Parts: sequence; C-alpha cells; structure tokens
Amino acid sequence: MEQPVLELRDISKNFGMTRALAHMSISLFPGEVHAVVGENGAGKSTMIKIMTGIYPPSSGALQVDGTTVTISGPHMAREKGIVAIYQEPMVFPDLDVAENIFISSTREGLIQNPARLRHKARQLLARVGISLDVERIASGLTLAEQQAVEIARALSQDVRVLIMDEPTASLSAHEAAQLRRIATKLAEDGVSVVYISHRLEEVFDIAHRVTVIRDGEHISTRPVSEVTSDGMISEMVGREFESLFEKSPSVARPEVILEVKDLAVDEIFSGVSFDLHYGEVLCMAGLVGARRTDIGLALFGIHPAGSGTVSFKGKPLVITSAAQAMKAGIAYVSEDRRKFGLAMPMPIRENITLATLGEFLSRWGLVKRKKEVEVAETFKKRLNIRTPDIEMAVGMLSGGNQQKVMLAKWLNMKPDLLIFDEPTRGVDVGAKAEVHDLIREFVAAGGAAIVISSDLPEVLAMGDRILVMREGRQMGILTHEEATQENIMALATGQTSTREVA
Ligand SMILES: Nc1ncnc2c1ncn2[C@@H]1O[C@H](COP(=O)(O)OP(=O)(O)OP(=O)(O)O)[C@@H](O)[C@H]1O
Ligand SMILES: [Mg+2]
Repeated sequence: MEQPVLELRDISKNFGMTRALAHMSISLFPGEVHAVVGENGAGKSTMIKIMTGIYPPSSGALQVDGTTVTISGPHMAREKGIVAIYQEPMVFPDLDVAENIFISSTREGLIQNPARLRHKARQLLARVGISLDVERIASGLTLAEQQAVEIARALSQDVRVLIMDEPTASLSAHEAAQLRRIATKLAEDGVSVVYISHRLEEVFDIAHRVTVIRDGEHISTRPVSEVTSDGMISEMVGREFESLFEKSPSVARPEVILEVKDLAVDEIFSGVSFDLHYGEVLCMAGLVGARRTDIGLALFGIHPAGSGTVSFKGKPLVITSAAQAMKAGIAYVSEDRRKFGLAMPMPIRENITLATLGEFLSRWGLVKRKKEVEVAETFKKRLNIRTPDIEMAVGMLSGGNQQKVMLAKWLNMKPDLLIFDEPTRGVDVGAKAEVHDLIREFVAAGGAAIVISSDLPEVLAMGDRILVMREGRQMGILTHEEATQENIMALATGQTSTREVA
C-alpha cells in the first residue's frame, strides 16, 4: 500500500483536566480529500494544531513519510509541507495580492523583482483556477478572496498536506463551491487535503474518505461511498439520531410587535418593509452581500437608518444607538462573537449571566451565585456546551462551544425582540436543533425573533415567514408554506422578479 504523507499514531492531548484527544490515529495519503467530522469540542481543531506544530502532543507519535518526527512549531510544519488555513485568513491589508502570497518567501530576488513576483503569483493562482488581480490591495478583498490568497501562499511553499478548518463557514454558497473545487484540484495534483466542516453535504461533495471523531477518540475512517449522513451523525453523537430539522408549529400571535416601513441606509439598502408579530420568527435569507446584517445593525442602532419608520410595541421608535435599542427591548446577536459578544478571559458562567446581573443581586447586593450557577448549568446542559467546568474561561472552548455560550447569554437576557445573525455558524448538527428549540421557546414566552441565516435548511425549519434580500433590495416575503429552497434561491439570485409586498 501507498505510504501516508502524514500519520498520527496514538496521539493524546490534555489541557489540564480536559482530554482533548485520546489515542487518536489517522493516516493522510497523497491525493486524497480527507474529511474530519465531529461535534463541537470533539477535538478536530486540536488535532490540526498538533499536525501543524502549534501544540506538542501529550503522548503518541507523528510520522512524515513513514519516519517519526517532532514538529516543534508552525515553521517546522511548513518546512515539511504541512499548512493549515483557517476561517479567518491572515492577510496583510496594506500589501497587494502578490506580496501577500510571497510574504514568507525567503527568495530575496523574488521580492525585489515586482514583475517576476506578479508573474509567479499569477501562475500559482492559475494552478488552482482562481481569477484574482494580483495587484489588488488586500484590504479590499472578500473573505473568500483572502482564503484564496492563503491557499496560493501555501502552494508557493510546496504544500503536501493542506488543512482547512471550517473554511466555508463564512462564505456564500457560490464561494464555498469554488473553494471546494480548489480543494479537489489540489488533491488531483497529489496534495493531501484535510477538510473539516459541519456541513455534511460538503463532505459528500468532495471527500474521498471520512473520519469521525468523538470525545477526542477516533471512531471510524471510511471511504465516502460507504457512509450515509444519518450513519455519520449517529457516530458523531454516539446515539441514533432522527428528524433533524422539522419545522415546529408557529406560535405567532395576531398582534404586531415591530413594524418597519421603507427603511433605508444610504447606498446600502433601501425599501425594507415588513411587520413582525409577537411569537413570530422572521428569517432573512439572501446571498452574502445581500445586506441582511446591515438591516440588523440599523434596527439595533449601530448604523442607524437614514430614512424610513419603525414602530415598536405600538409606538414610533427612532433608533439612534445600541444603548437605546437595548433599553427599548431590542437585542442583536452578532455573527462576530469576538467583536460584540464574549469576554474571552472570563468564565462561561459570567459570560452567560453578566448582562442580567440585576436579576442575580440579592437584597444585600451580593450576587446570588447559586442562581447564576443554576442558569449557566441549565444552558450548558441544553446546548451541550462541552466543558468540564462552567468556571472555565470562554476563550478555552472550541469555536462552536463559544458560539453556544454567546447564544445562551443573549437568550438569557430575554429582550422583547432578538435579532440573530447566523446563530448556528460553526455549531454542530446536534446542537443546531437545540438552538432552534431555544429560539422557539424564546418567542413562545412572548418575544419575537429575526433570524438572519445563510443556511437554507435552517431558514426553512425556523421561519414562520422568510424575507429574501438581494443586493440591498427586498425581493419578497414568503410564508413558510410557500417557501422552498428553490424559490428562496430564485429570489436571492434575482431570477424571479420582485414580488409586490404588502
Ligand atoms: N488551549 C486550550 N485550553 C484548554 N482547553 C482547550 C484548549 N483548546 C481546546 N481545548 C478543549 O479541547 C476540546 C477540543 O477542542 P477543539 O477546539 O479541538 O474542538 P473542535 O472539534 O475543533 O470543535 P468545534 O467544532 O467547536 O470547532 C474542547 O473541550 C476544548 O474546550
Ligand atoms: Mg474547531
């Protein structure tokens, strides 16, 4: 049999009390796309960090081309041809594309010869079929383009194992498809591609083999032709799993909580009009660039609207700041958990309960610790937040588990209107259904929700109605009964003409 390029043998990794990896073994062969799936906190990113020398293993061995090696850091991993690209790419905003690609090139001559640099950069991009102007300054690149730069950078260094950790989480469907094409092309060229994703349909699209890990342990490795989606999920969660996304019955009431008329922010979006009922979940669908986040930010007062009217709980409301929006009872759960959400060094418990501290103060002004712990433990259980201890810093959690803490924090605040922006990005399939249930419970308890999501199955499962945006224009509002993946996409891509919206 062929020799693996990279092999982990019986690798364990402990972080204090947490066993992130337990006797993990995996072999990566040249020319394969090897998908790795598992729940949030299963140990996927930790495994990548061991492959790329960011963490040393607690025990076990790594082999490159059949020889045991110690990878003492990312630099050494790169020398061996092992490179990872992440969701948030590393590009230098002031440099152009070509300079970014060759940023770590030691070939002096290349840097000093801009014409040659650009020529080389074009060649690399062409190799993976990316069309990108190499003279463009990186600060203007989309996330997908930045990832393309990272891939080209990896290629410039003779990559043999390219690891992608949830690379498509923030990409539009079109961009994600292009990235998968690039991954496939690289594998055809003999690169071993490791592909981590919570989107199982992607796994079926590109992987040759699939490895499932659970609780840090290797569960299975199989050719993709021998796996089914249900089987994979059962292995991931360790039990049978059925009926993933069933639409729960609507609890919308006749009374309107929010009425938005002709809302606009100059040159960003315009003509946004809808009403939202108590108990209702309104989903906003659209491609990346549809300007859905901007609508959320306008309603939350971060980028106040330039024109249009909003009436909230029966009264006109001019929203000019986030503080004012919160006071009125409107909250916004950002897609960017670092920027607006979590205090990474603080314990999970405090992150969940901080905003509602008032509720936990006793008569003597002491925090009712017991109540706080109770609330945090309840969310931990419902959302399956993977941690030995709610006193642990949020920053120590896996990406998906951080997302769950952020949702817990905002749900616990119990505002009247919650705007969720991509609530389940990076959240595993099992926890997704639980997040949906919590949003339902929240609206059933008297609130209303707007859910911005690029995940069509999620939109169909959650939305009592679905508002579709395209390039800053409202294309239509579909009822749950009317909505299908096809007609949402048709509106989102402008294939269907604008519907009249009452
Ligand atoms: N630096 C760290 N310190 C302490 N614990 C850590 C650290 N890094 C990871 N862990 C823990 O190790 C476990 C595995 O985390 P990891 O990030 O590998 O999960 P993952 O499979 O990538 O999850 P996700 O799908 O959410 O990204 C988790 O319990 C996490 O809290
Ligand atoms: Mg991860």
